Amino acid sequence: MRVVHLRRGGTSVVLRLDPQVLPCVLHWGPDLGDLAPDDLDGLLLAARLPVSDSAMYRQETVSILPQHSSGWLGRPGLLGNRDGAAWSVAFDEVTHRVDEAGAATWLEGPDDGVRLVSVGIDHACGLEVTTELRLLASGLVALRATVTNRGTDRYEVNHLEPALPVPDEAQELLDMTGRHAHERVPQRRPFDVGQWMREAWGGRPGHDSATVLCAGTPGFGFRRGTVWGVHLGWSGNQVLSAERHTAGWRLLRGGERLLPTEGAVDPGESYTSPWLYGSWGRGLDEFSARFHEYLRARPQHPSSPRPVVLNTWEAVYFDHDLPKLLELAETAARLGVERFVLDDGWFRARRDDTAGLGDWHVDEDVWPHGLAPLVDRVRALGMEFGLWVEPEMVNLDSDLARAHPDWVLQTEHGPGLPSRNQHVLDLGHPEAYAYVVDLISALVKQYGIAYLKWDHNRPLVDAGQGLTGRPGVRAQTAATYRMMAELKQRHSGLEIESCCGGGGRLDLGIMEYADRVWVSDCIDAHERHRLVRWTGLTLPPEVMGTHVGSVRDHTTGRRLSLDFRAGSAIFGHFGVEWDLTSADPDEVGQLRTWIERYKHERSLLHTGTVVNADLDIPGLELTGVVARDRGAALYRLSALEHLLVSPPGRVPLPGLDPDQVYLVTATAAPNIRVPGVAAGSEMLQVPWAREGLRMTGRVLEQVGVQAPPLPVDELVLIRAEAV
Ligand code: DGJ
Repeated sequence: MRVVHLRRGGTSVVLRLDPQVLPCVLHWGPDLGDLAPDDLDGLLLAARLPVSDSAMYRQETVSILPQHSSGWLGRPGLLGNRDGAAWSVAFDEVTHRVDEAGAATWLEGPDDGVRLVSVGIDHACGLEVTTELRLLASGLVALRATVTNRGTDRYEVNHLEPALPVPDEAQELLDMTGRHAHERVPQRRPFDVGQWMREAWGGRPGHDSATVLCAGTPGFGFRRGTVWGVHLGWSGNQVLSAERHTAGWRLLRGGERLLPTEGAVDPGESYTSPWLYGSWGRGLDEFSARFHEYLRARPQHPSSPRPVVLNTWEAVYFDHDLPKLLELAETAARLGVERFVLDDGWFRARRDDTAGLGDWHVDEDVWPHGLAPLVDRVRALGMEFGLWVEPEMVNLDSDLARAHPDWVLQTEHGPGLPSRNQHVLDLGHPEAYAYVVDLISALVKQYGIAYLKWDHNRPLVDAGQGLTGRPGVRAQTAATYRMMAELKQRHSGLEIESCCGGGGRLDLGIMEYADRVWVSDCIDAHERHRLVRWTGLTLPPEVMGTHVGSVRDHTTGRRLSLDFRAGSAIFGHFGVEWDLTSADPDEVGQLRTWIERYKHERSLLHTGTVVNADLDIPGLELTGVVARDRGAALYRLSALEHLLVSPPGRVPLPGLDPDQVYLVTATAAPNIRVPGVAAGSEMLQVPWAREGLRMTGRVLEQVGVQAPPLPVDELVLIRAEAV
């Protein structure tokens, strides 16, 4: 038996490697420094459990794939069977191998981590399992398992859910919930004995997705306490769970929620679980930073300045009219928009959402000359052209469904309930896949499309494959990934936005192919504060689509100032989704200034470290991005409620270099009467904002600056520059 110590990015993972047991995590969290072999033996000794009368022998060997045969009495890491047998596994012949950087090529992206690969055999059950734990440069852990059938008959994996243990100080759980246009509502509860399980059965993480499952010290915040958490890099059915056992264990785990036969493997075949990512931090900011750093280091991460987008959806909906769209394009170009995206409504019979999905041909009535008159003008105006598609979906009222009813996912009872009048096309069917990919590819080629907004508006329920009637969710998820990869491979430089009726599919699985996500169908800047903050737990600002909508929000009916809408939207991949042709000309002029401001700030905002203050002032929120070299930072202080206390008090400016002196100024668009001051606010009453302030990063974080008494739904931008 030996103990290995993996160290990367401020994280240590110490594992017990036993030739008869899959790897057991002894520590996952803060870097423990250099530890000699004797120290590691000491750590092992320190971690050993006392033998108790009632506990099963060996229960201390709870591995990253916990097994009942080793004394674990909670949820097993692997559950499966071979026609009712071979359901209790014992991988008791195990080899372990540690690969340093350069040896591992099984994750996309830079090969900068260290990995532990363990192969366990269960001769009696005819199974082999491989567990792979990778510690990446950012300190993020990636974990997965593969089960290979070494028997002579078919074996079915029912679930395969690797787990990571967290220490006893992790007493409070945090995850997300939500609904359409109201995603990412955080919820907390005590980490009590038992199991807290969050599942997704709709063939996608969903609008109510847990997104992450975190366990931390009581009251942990963005910069308070210590927190550990997991996220599943998978866009289909899934489960995340936290289990606390009276035997003393707290586990976080996750895996794919397999439907009958989806995990079946014939002799010699394997099933591999999706990547389970684990992060920890002294507060959620550090937890998130590991995800952001990992994503940014991948070669496919968007590195060009994120172009200002104009999306036509909330401007015209299905009402496609060339002169109107041309006017929108002209206005957009004058304001500095760089990418024009034609949303839903361009293809055959698509006059509303009852028909047309699947018939990916430009509508001859609405677009008698094809899209060329619009596309050519957009390009002549110096903008890229993007197009909305929904490749996985079909309306029963479409030529496609009429010609190939068996290509619609369905069960014995038929295709099931529609959602938004639509059903799901079986992309696991080779001909259906080829039909869609070829049509979309031809459009991309014909119109030189730079960007696809890829939507997904029906959950996969009753999702049986026409060929066999068997569940098709897993095959659909894999086919979607394959199609995105194939389109990108056929069309170099093509970008894809993952939209799922808003933010129903923005996991790290889809991020292998997507360059941007549509955070929510709710553009309301007030709601967007919550949506972007919590979506940002795993995703960095440059991949989160954030648009300036109409004065009166289409989802909530709230009326918000342009400064609040735009000042909120610049903390993401900025865009406009508003009928500018009928907007107040003054506001359109002001929007130009905000677009300039976004362009000026985007290199900082899209590469820096995201910070959030833990304010004890209800209704006040402070978020910022600090440059990687900590030479500058941009913060946004927002009032999201009518504040009880006024003036509200001091707010910290976190994340700066403690020993560096900064010049701190309140800034906003020049159109605001006093720079940095939301119109009508009492900002001038804060002397530092009027005069500018020179102060060290330490004082700015520890002491803070007086917050202006902002009116509700107004914000101010604060810039710190090293002097
Ligand atoms: C749902 C998306 O989230 C919206 O942004 C828009 O693209 C519509 N679908 C179009 O049908």
